[in-house]
Amino acid sequence: MVTSKTLDYGQPSLQGTIRIPGDKSVSHRSIMFGSIAEGTTTVEGFLQSDDCLSTIDCFSKLGVEITVDGEYVRIESNGIQAWNEPNEILYTGNSGTTTRLMLGILAGSPISSVLIGDESIQKRPMKRVTNPLKQMGAKLIGRENGQYTPIAVEGTSLQSIHYKMPVASAQVKSAILLAALNAEGETVVEEIETSRDHTEKMLQHFGASVSVEDRTIRLQGGQKLTGTHVVVPGDISSAAFFLAAGAIVPNTKLTLTNVGLNPTRTGIVDVLQAMGAKLCINDSENNSHEQMGTIEIETSEVTGTEIGGDLIPRLIDEIPIIALLATQAVGKTVIKNAEELKVKETNRIDAVVNELKKLGANITATDDGMIIEGPTSLHGGELKTYGDHRIGMMAAIAALITSSAVTIDNPECISVSYPNFFEQLDSVVLASL
Ligand code: S3P
Repeated sequence: MVTSKTLDYGQPSLQGTIRIPGDKSVSHRSIMFGSIAEGTTTVEGFLQSDDCLSTIDCFSKLGVEITVDGEYVRIESNGIQAWNEPNEILYTGNSGTTTRLMLGILAGSPISSVLIGDESIQKRPMKRVTNPLKQMGAKLIGRENGQYTPIAVEGTSLQSIHYKMPVASAQVKSAILLAALNAEGETVVEEIETSRDHTEKMLQHFGASVSVEDRTIRLQGGQKLTGTHVVVPGDISSAAFFLAAGAIVPNTKLTLTNVGLNPTRTGIVDVLQAMGAKLCINDSENNSHEQMGTIEIETSEVTGTEIGGDLIPRLIDEIPIIALLATQAVGKTVIKNAEELKVKETNRIDAVVNELKKLGANITATDDGMIIEGPTSLHGGELKTYGDHRIGMMAAIAALITSSAVTIDNPECISVSYPNFFEQLDSVVLASL
């Protein structure tokens, strides 16, 4: 096991094309929906990352037949009623999506099971999901009254719910909607802000009827899903690292293909445009049930901006790399209403601020975000990932613009969402002139 990685790129430029690997959120859901559905589901463009493999592992333990061949996955299922009660604990690894969505799915299934995750998952709040599920009749037992894993689920019959969500969270919304599939009556979920809508889109793709009006989603219980073919677009949250690099590394031009462009995920594009980045989007590619396309980006003079409100859920996972981008922008960038960052894989407000400060950034933590004053020239240093893939990738992109080397601990954590990140990065780096 590699324990640290030193990145010394000199003063590189970046040139070339990167095909962005599959979207993590859509990949998880393709396995979940394929396992719930009756019949055969085939998935193309699947992200073979640690998190998505955790989802496959859980459903395999329920007796669903899943075969993986690179980016291609085949799922054979006879539906939820045919699942086996697992004789092992279901291990969800580092994945919040696996843990929370599985709680919703298992709550209304005919089986009993126990979920546990890694050290980070064991600290992440689950009441946001277990509370509404309990209101639907779910039988769940976990530490601190269902706040933390391990959580035991005794599948039972569920009632529909009308739920006003207290946080903007696609994981919470999805857990409730997936439970609602097996509940009696119509479930209504009201969001406070629109979060990613991959679940709603995929429910429809698998033949379910869901109504979405403004921020209210309605789903009638008792609907069956039917196996289908899923094309997973590339992950815009992965593309974000190269979008930021494209804007801030000198003499650079990058083309990113296969990028998912679901409007609930494109906050990063809005921010880059607001900051004055030179980017060009061609969104005509469309062989998926999700929007996708190509983005070209080149070295840009960027200016500070303000990020908050309903933009936050549309870029929540991109904030670490946006903070790095902001260190190179002229003026002040304010990120607010982003307190959800504190309950991600690590506390990302603290992690981003601590690590960028080590490189010389002018960045301050606030209660609900951070303030960055730019531009600053960054120097090298030894950075911690906190076992968080997105902090690791932020540090690696920072190394492209630092005056000396950056060393990161635990680079392996990046494989949670982007196993070939360094390979793709190296393929576009042109050595110093
Ligand atoms: C995800 C939703 C987001 C995001 C996470 C993936 C999903 O979390 O941060 O990486 O797949 O639904 P929240 O819904 O908790 O904000």
